[in-house]
Amino acid sequence: MKTPARLGTPLSPSAFKVMLLGSGELGKEVIIALQRLGVEVIAVDRYANAPGHQVAHRAHVIDMTDGAALTALIEQEKPDLVVPEIEAIATPALVELERQGRTTVIPTARAAWLTMNREGIRRLAAELLGLPTSPYRFADSLDELKVACDAVDFPCVVKPVMSSSGKGQSRVDSAADVEQAWKYAAAGGRVDAGRVIVEGFIDFDYEITQLTVRALNAQQEVVTHFCEPIGHVQEKGDYIESWQPHAMPSAALDRARDIARKVTDELGGLGIFGVELFVKGDMVWFSEVSPRPHDTGMVTMASQRQNEFELHAKAILGLPVDVTLLAPAASAVIYGRHEAKAIAFEGVADALASPGIDIRLFGKPESFARRRMGVALATASDVETARIRAKEAAAKVRPVTSSH
Ligand SMILES: Nc1ncnc2c1ncn2[C@@H]1O[C@H](COP(=O)(O)OP(=O)(O)O)[C@@H](O)[C@H]1O
Ligand SMILES: [Mg+2]
Repeated sequence: MKTPARLGTPLSPSAFKVMLLGSGELGKEVIIALQRLGVEVIAVDRYANAPGHQVAHRAHVIDMTDGAALTALIEQEKPDLVVPEIEAIATPALVELERQGRTTVIPTARAAWLTMNREGIRRLAAELLGLPTSPYRFADSLDELKVACDAVDFPCVVKPVMSSSGKGQSRVDSAADVEQAWKYAAAGGRVDAGRVIVEGFIDFDYEITQLTVRALNAQQEVVTHFCEPIGHVQEKGDYIESWQPHAMPSAALDRARDIARKVTDELGGLGIFGVELFVKGDMVWFSEVSPRPHDTGMVTMASQRQNEFELHAKAILGLPVDVTLLAPAASAVIYGRHEAKAIAFEGVADALASPGIDIRLFGKPESFARRRMGVALATASDVETARIRAKEAAAKVRPVTSSH
C-alpha cells in the first residue's frame, strides 16, 4: 500500500498524482473529491470529453484494454496511484507494473484482475472463501452450456464471464432457451472468447449493495467500515433507482457484513468496494463485488456525510473516513431517451423546486436512449417518500435534442 506521507500541490514537484482509468460519472465524482484535497488528477477514458475528463488536470483518450498503450501512458505520467473505475481494462498489464514496483493499483492489481472476470471472483468467493452463492458452472461451447444448465437446473441465468451492465446476460427457463442464451452471450461479451457462467436463479426478496470501505485509522491500521445497506431495482442490467438505508433483519445484515468483510479482506488494499448481495428472509447470497464506487451508491451523494466518492478518495490516500448516514435518501436515473450528440435538458428548475431534491447532469457528449445521462437525488424523512420524490424529479428532467 502506498499512501502519501503528506499531500502536495498539484502541477508542482510536490504533487501527489492519481490516474483514473475510466472517467464516467463515478470517476468524475472521485476526481472532484481528490481535487478538493489538492491531488493532481489524470483522467483516462476511451472517448474524448468523458465526464471525468472535464474536471481533471489532464485528460487522455486511449484503449484501456490495450496493455501496451496502458503501460506506455502510465510510464509517461508516472502516477503515484492508478485507480480503475471500470472493468474493461488490460489488468494483466497493471499486475505487471505493480509487480515491478512502478505504480500502485487501487485496491490492488490482483483485485482489479480477479473482479473483471466473473470466473475469478466467483471461484474466490465460493471455493476459496466458502461464501454462499448461487450454484454455478462454466461453459465454453453450446454443448457444454446445455450440460451446465442441466446441472445447475432451471431457471438459471447465463452471463459472459467478461461483461458488465447486464450485457449478454439472459434468464433461461427451460432447455429450449439455451441456444438463444448462448448466442446472446456471445454477442454481448467484452471479449469474444465465448466463455460463460451459468448461475442458478435466486428467487430473492430483494438485493442490496453493501458499500464496504477499507481505510487506515490514526494508528495506520486497516479498518473495515460498513455503510448502511443500499436497496436498488435493476432493469435490463442497469440500476434504475436506489435508496439508503434498506431495512433488513439484523441476522441478514450481520450475514451480509460478514460476507462483505471476508471478500474485501481477501481482495485487500485500500478503498471502497460495492458488494452485491441477494437476500431472502435471513438468507444472504454473495453475487459479485466491484473494488470501486458502485453506481447504486450515487444515492450517498444525498444520504451520507461523506459520499462513496469522498470515502474512496480519502481511503486511497490513507486518510480516515466517516460512513455516517445523515438522512434517508433515494436516487433515480435520468436516461438520454435520444440517440444524439450534445443534447440539452429542460425541466431542471421544476425538478429542483421540490423539497430535498438535487440533480446531477453528467455532461456526456453523446446520448443514447438507454444511456445514463444524469441522476435525481432526494432526501426525505423516510425512504419511501425519498423514492417517490427522486422518481418524480427524474421524470421532470426532459432530455431534448439541441436542434429543437
Ligand atoms: N443468479 C441470479 N439470480 C437472480 N437474479 C440475478 C442472478 N444473477 C443476476 N441477477 C440479476 O441481474 C442483475 C445483474 O447481474 P450481475 O451479475 O450483477 O451483472 P453485472 O455485472 O452486469 O452487474 C443483478 O443485480 C440481479 O438483479
Ligand atoms: Mg452487478
